[in-house]
Amino acid sequence: MRNAKPISGRIIVKVPASTANLGPGFDSLGMALSLFAWISMEPSETTRITLVGDNLEGVSQDKTNLVYVVAQSVFDKAGIELPELDIGIRSDIPLTRGLGSSASAIVGALVAANSLIGNVLTDDELFQMATALEKHPDNVGASLFGGIIAAAWDGTRAEYVRIEPPSGMDVLVAIPEFELSTKKARNVLPEQITLSDAVFNVTHSSLLTAALASGRLDLLSHAMRDRLHQPYRAALIPGMDRILREATDHGALGAVLSGAGPTLLFLARSEHSRNGQLVAFIQEVMAGEGITVKTQWLDPCLHGPQVLFMDENHPDYDKDPHRLLRNVKVEVGA
Ligand code: HSE
Repeated sequence: MRNAKPISGRIIVKVPASTANLGPGFDSLGMALSLFAWISMEPSETTRITLVGDNLEGVSQDKTNLVYVVAQSVFDKAGIELPELDIGIRSDIPLTRGLGSSASAIVGALVAANSLIGNVLTDDELFQMATALEKHPDNVGASLFGGIIAAAWDGTRAEYVRIEPPSGMDVLVAIPEFELSTKKARNVLPEQITLSDAVFNVTHSSLLTAALASGRLDLLSHAMRDRLHQPYRAALIPGMDRILREATDHGALGAVLSGAGPTLLFLARSEHSRNGQLVAFIQEVMAGEGITVKTQWLDPCLHGPQVLFMDENHPDYDKDPHRLLRNVKVEVGA
């Protein structure tokens, strides 16, 4: 049991979304994205969970809520009792689309709860807890540390190295209107693969990691290919196969399924990424399949969670999480 004492006031945490796999780096290579979720947390007399904005349909508002449960695991580990919490959640990250929304919620909850008790848990403890909860160290690592994460988890301990994203690289996401659960997308994967496919993935994943670490954008189209999961998941996402195959003809450096999908993710050089050619190609193929897709240009996010402490004296303090989280314009700083 550690010497932890809750602060009085509200913590607001802004957490980046993440993409996992980056093609061949299955459960290993992740990148934080400039798309965010916000969690506010404050000790309270009774528990209240407020959902703010879109994207949160179906999220529970009682003590089974993921953010509440994860916060309690932090307090348990720190040996402190804080059973009643006023929690606000806003997510600009669409749920169940392969953009790491659950990893962001877990990381946001861990960081908010730890901040409430004076940061008694270390970053490594938070990373181990997040990985054990989420099972995907590449998603949680990216949300927790920002940038690109190369991670490996053996079921007991996760290790990672953070790579600074190469400059001049933009990210396009194409988010189909339908949801796809990670469970369903994992169920279509084979139990066994051939040695040649395993070799293909190990070699391409290593090349991709080294290319990203050394800024070799010219290697991405070669290195981002995958034989472990994308070929099996393509049947779940009409249009994916053609889009991934032909994206480099339309200005992408590389194209992959984001995490378990259904979002498709494209890397492109900043200087000629936004001329509309790639987006037009994606929209055309998806429309041909009868699928509505939302495209959005993002940047790699270079930082992990940003934490803001507020009490009644803070000029932006608002007891109502709706107003507070809708109006978070402040770039919350650590
Ligand atoms: N790496 C996981 C998968 C997705 O592809 O199944 C986690 O978001």
